[in-house]
Amino acid sequence: MEITPQAGKKLGVTVEGFDHTTASESDVQELMQAVYTSKIAVLKNQHLSTDAFLELSKRLGRPERYYEPIYHHPDNPDIFVSSNIPQDGKQVGVPKTGHFWHADYQFMPNPFGITLIHPQVVPEKNRGTYFIDMGEAYRRLPDDLKAAVAGTKARQTVRKYFKIRPGDVYRPLSEIVAEIKQKTPDVLHPTTFRHPLTGETVLYISEAATIEIEDADGNPLDDKLLRRLFEATGQLDEEMRHELIHLQEFVVGDLLIWDNRSLIHRARHTTTPEPTASHRVTVHDAHKLYEEAA
Ligand SMILES: [Fe+2]
Repeated sequence: MEITPQAGKKLGVTVEGFDHTTASESDVQELMQAVYTSKIAVLKNQHLSTDAFLELSKRLGRPERYYEPIYHHPDNPDIFVSSNIPQDGKQVGVPKTGHFWHADYQFMPNPFGITLIHPQVVPEKNRGTYFIDMGEAYRRLPDDLKAAVAGTKARQTVRKYFKIRPGDVYRPLSEIVAEIKQKTPDVLHPTTFRHPLTGETVLYISEAATIEIEDADGNPLDDKLLRRLFEATGQLDEEMRHELIHLQEFVVGDLLIWDNRSLIHRARHTTTPEPTASHRVTVHDAHKLYEEAA
C-alpha cells in the first residue's frame, strides 16, 4: 500500500495497492489515520462487487444502514444508491441526491464518522463532488465569529431538503410533515466540537441541515449569525469559487473514503444530467462523532 498526497490539492491522499482481503490491521490503521489527517482518501483500482464493497467497509467500522428504504440497494440494504439510471425500467435508489452542502446524518442524534463512496457510472462532464473542510473553515473565522459560536448549539433538521418519496403521492403534505417530525425530530449538536481523532476544532454546521444557533440556555440567536457563518465558510458561493471549496474528481474504479466529522460536501449536478450512479456505505469507527463540545 502506498499513500501519497494528491498533487496540487489542499485535501486528500491517493492510495495505491490497498486490498481489503489481504490488508493487515496495521495497514487499515494507517489508512484510517490518513483519512483523519488528510480528510479524503482515494483508493485506486477498486472494482468491487456490492458484497466486496461492504466487506471493505466493515474493515473500517460498523455500517449504519440508511433509515429511508427507498435509498437501499435491492440486494444489499446496507448500500445506499444514488442513481439516475433505471434498471429494467425501474428506478433503483434515488436520483439527484445531495445537491446542497451537508455532512451525512447531521440531522440525526448519532452521526457516523466515515463515509465511503464507490462510483459505478461517472459522467463525462461535471464529474466530482465538492468538499469544504470545516476544521480549516473554523480556523479562518474572524475572532468575533469564533466568540459568537463559543458554547452554542446548532439545531439540525432533515426537513429543509427531505425528498418526497414515490409512496407519498396523493398523501396530504401536513401528514407527511408530521411523520417526518415524528421519525426524525430536530436535533441539537454543539456548533463546534473537538474532533476525537485529531483534536481539531470543527465548525459543525451546513446550509442543508442547520436552521438555528441557540445559546447555552436554548435561546435562538439572530439569523444573521448563521448567515455570516455560511458566507464565511463558502457555502453561499453558487459559482463554487470560494477558496475553501475543493472539487474531488474520480473515475470508475476509485473508492472514496472521507472524514464525515470535519468535511461537508455537495454533489455536482448539471442542468442536463448525464447518467450517473454511485454506491455508498457509512460506518461508525471506534469513536462517537464527538465526545465534547469545543
Ligand atoms: Fe452526502
